[in-house]
Amino acid sequence: MKIAISGKGGVGKTTLAAGLAKLFAESGYQVYAVDADPDISLGTTLGVPEEKLEAQPPLVEMKQLIAERTKASPGGGMFILNPQVDDILDDYAIKLGRIKLLRMGAVKRAGTSCYCPENAFLNAIINTLLLGKRDVVIIDFGAGIEHLTRGTARGVDIMLVVTEPTRVSVETAKVIKKLSSEMGVPKIKVVGNKIRSEREKDFLLQQFTQDEVLGFLEFNETLWESSLLGHSQENDDVLLSSVKGVYDKIIEEVGDARKE
Ligand SMILES: Nc1ncnc2c1ncn2[C@@H]1O[C@H](COP(=O)(O)OP(=O)(O)OP(=O)(O)O)[C@@H](O)[C@H]1O
Ligand SMILES: [Mg+2]
Repeated sequence: MKIAISGKGGVGKTTLAAGLAKLFAESGYQVYAVDADPDISLGTTLGVPEEKLEAQPPLVEMKQLIAERTKASPGGGMFILNPQVDDILDDYAIKLGRIKLLRMGAVKRAGTSCYCPENAFLNAIINTLLLGKRDVVIIDFGAGIEHLTRGTARGVDIMLVVTEPTRVSVETAKVIKKLSSEMGVPKIKVVGNKIRSEREKDFLLQQFTQDEVLGFLEFNETLWESSLLGHSQENDDVLLSSVKGVYDKIIEEVGDARKE
């Protein structure tokens, strides 16, 4: 099962990605959790210890590896657009029980999309994960889905577009929904997060059709405080129970991967 997560800044993408990764892992799946958001934080939200994160820099910083795989020469010029990366995924993943975390990092250059070896390398990682036969892949894309290409969008089983009950985040959600659909993502669903009242649910149900909305996550004080206090076991328990409803809906929508 390949799950992509996107949405406006701060709406709860990483929270949802971490919760889903843990729930799938708890059910016995091998999970690849991919942090493709430029400001990487999935590791921290998952509760990976700081030392472990420091020991494995984001993939975009693996200069030598990228040069080797893309056959890029130091002076620039030609490089391979679809380097082979299947064999290295596990070497550079941070392991947390059944979860393997891959942190992509971002190309720090002006302009959003550059045809450079780093991006070719990161795209190859996403492509390999989406098109290969892996149990569960969960990708936190951040607000941008530019690593998704027409060739790989169909490899996504479900795109979750997270939104708060606010006009600005709904507008972003609609743009992402449209882009994903143009890319060819087969199933796109909205998840309403930080819901405090029926009125807020109704607001989102007015913005999207009933069928487009996969589910809602209530606003939760403990989750909110985790941004002040950091990761803890208590947060984790709350995280899992908060995300369980959405997890069940995904299984309903996409089917239990193990039964196929
Ligand atoms: N249901 C919720 N109830 C309360 N707080 C929440 C909820 N979901 C997420 N949060 C909090 O909102 C903040 C933003 O969440 P998160 O980091 O998951 O968002 P994001 O979309 O990944 O943000 P970014 O765009 O910066 O990557 C965090 O402090 C998180 O703890
Ligand atoms: Mg995030």
